[in-house]
Amino acid sequence: MPKLLHLQVACAENRVIGRDGKLPWRIPEDLKFFHDQTAGNVVVLGRICYETWPRVRLDGRRPVVVTRHAALATDGVQVAGSLAGALALAEALPGEIHICGGERIYAETLALDRPMRLHLTLVHAEVPGDTYMPEWRHLAWREVARRESADANYRYTFFTLDRG
Ligand SMILES: NC(=O)c1ccc[n+]([C@@H]2O[C@H](COP(=O)([O-])OP(=O)(O)OC[C@H]3O[C@@H](n4cnc5c(N)ncnc54)[C@H](OP(=O)(O)O)[C@@H]3O)[C@@H](O)[C@H]2O)c1
Repeated sequence: MPKLLHLQVACAENRVIGRDGKLPWRIPEDLKFFHDQTAGNVVVLGRICYETWPRVRLDGRRPVVVTRHAALATDGVQVAGSLAGALALAEALPGEIHICGGERIYAETLALDRPMRLHLTLVHAEVPGDTYMPEWRHLAWREVARRESADANYRYTFFTLDRG
């Protein structure tokens, strides 16, 4: 049986996830959550996410990068030309599979007909940006957990949602 897919995303109420190749906020609690969740596991991510996360391989993460540029493969970093190819590589590696974006990777993952768990940090703000989480709310999720939190700048809720 294929492994459960974990999707990791922090998203504003207007579905913004990124701006100018970076996160559009700095929320230390969410960053720590993301790092803890993905440590020791396989992370599947697009080329921009990979290039903007130089320390991705710290804490035992095994990156599988989706890109047309096979030359990006290096020691400990696998590369695939499609999400399907990346998932096949990820399946063969030890550890959980965490899908870390960006936009097209999330869209293609949400379109898959297989069990998945969405770890969603919903940031309760309308935030300007240029990269979006594709609409997920129409899909049949079961809420497994929810925890509200806040810092000096934002209120946010950590959701765990299962599907399939
Ligand atoms: N808030 C969050 O949780 C979160 C999570 C992730 C990302 N972000 C933000 O989102 C932005 C980056 O995401 P992005 O969507 O712009 O870029 P991205 O997915 O990281 O990278 C895009 C590139 O990845 C490759 N790619 C992506 N999907 C592909 C597919 N299905 N098949 C083949 N290749 C594929 C292509 O690489 P090549 O051009 O090399 O072929 C494409 O140009 C940043 O601002 C980042 O901070 C936020």
